[in-house]
Amino acid sequence: MFKPISMPDGRQTSSLGFGCASLMNIPSSSERTYILDLAYDHGITHFDTARMYGLGHAEQELRPLLATKRSKITLATKFGLDNPLLFKKFSNRQSLLRSLIRRNKLTTRLAKKLYSHIAVSRTFSSEACQESLLHSLKSLNTDLVDILYMHDPLPSDQFDPSLPILFDSFKANGLIRYIGIAANPSSASYYINKYPSLFDAIQLGTSSPSLALTPHVTGVHSFFGHIRHLAPILQSSFSTAPALCRLWSDRLSIDLTLKPNLAAVVLAAKQLVNPSSIHLFSTTKPGNLAHIMTCIQNSSWSDAELISFARFLSTLSSKYAII
Ligand SMILES: NC(=O)c1ccc[n+]([C@@H]2O[C@H](COP(=O)([O-])OP(=O)(O)OC[C@H]3O[C@@H](n4cnc5c(N)ncnc54)[C@H](OP(=O)(O)O)[C@@H]3O)[C@@H](O)[C@H]2O)c1
Repeated sequence: MFKPISMPDGRQTSSLGFGCASLMNIPSSSERTYILDLAYDHGITHFDTARMYGLGHAEQELRPLLATKRSKITLATKFGLDNPLLFKKFSNRQSLLRSLIRRNKLTTRLAKKLYSHIAVSRTFSSEACQESLLHSLKSLNTDLVDILYMHDPLPSDQFDPSLPILFDSFKANGLIRYIGIAANPSSASYYINKYPSLFDAIQLGTSSPSLALTPHVTGVHSFFGHIRHLAPILQSSFSTAPALCRLWSDRLSIDLTLKPNLAAVVLAAKQLVNPSSIHLFSTTKPGNLAHIMTCIQNSSWSDAELISFARFLSTLSSKYAII
């Protein structure tokens, strides 16, 4: 359980990766450092962030961990998207604002609605890419990122034809090891077909049509959204059919009415089905992180039971089919 995976250069990293998109939802800097350290202490050595996460502040939160563990960690960041100016203006006070907003459901909904209506800026020019990477390296306080992803490019975006040359120069200068694409399946497909040998890494959502794309990128594959998308489907299925919940709880010897247990089984099943990929996940709760990791590490689930569970997941919704 929880085996390492090999990067194209033979270096190993963990098959579970910690995502930093929601990191700034954790109120204090010390708690953010704590959860990142905790992830590392539980065997996670891959961390995924982006220039835009946490209104541009998520990368710098990784500094304390990287200061002592950089050589043992694989690090991914992204370029191309930037936050709306209106939101960036408040970025220094985001912890306080986020906690005030999350105090009630209405303000949370309103903030999400406002964010979705104000367009993020999308720039895939060489100048912007270079500036973004240099900013990322400074924020992370490191000399190199392992994977630099194009962040969610759409076919309609202006792709600067000089980007491939720039990517090569980043590699030659030791600033990055790999270039990746993190996009929805149709956009990823568009860019992979147009630039067949450009990408060493691909990052996709948990839905299965995306799996068809992965053979076209021979390097690192990572997936996100397993818990966010699959746990609610499972929970709703279990609440309408409690006998099903009891059945799977018995088969896997774990109480699947508990959310962190559900998350652990989903991640373990995903890992078994796709053993050479990185499976990204995240939580803002240290207790849940420790619970999920301990559960996966100490589990005695048989491969056959996990595969059956994966098949059960796939039958719940063809949209989320996983094998
Ligand atoms: N390339 C892209 O466009 C893209 C898009 C999305 C994500 N990513 C990357 O992937 C990382 C992981 O993101 P993710 O969304 O895939 O993480 P995830 O692990 O699938 O979902 C984490 C979220 O689900 C919540 N959660 C936990 N248990 C749940 C349950 N039983 N039911 C419902 N929700 C539950 C967590 O809440 P708590 O915090 O309360 O535990 C947390 O907010 C990101 O941080 C980012 O690095 C990339």
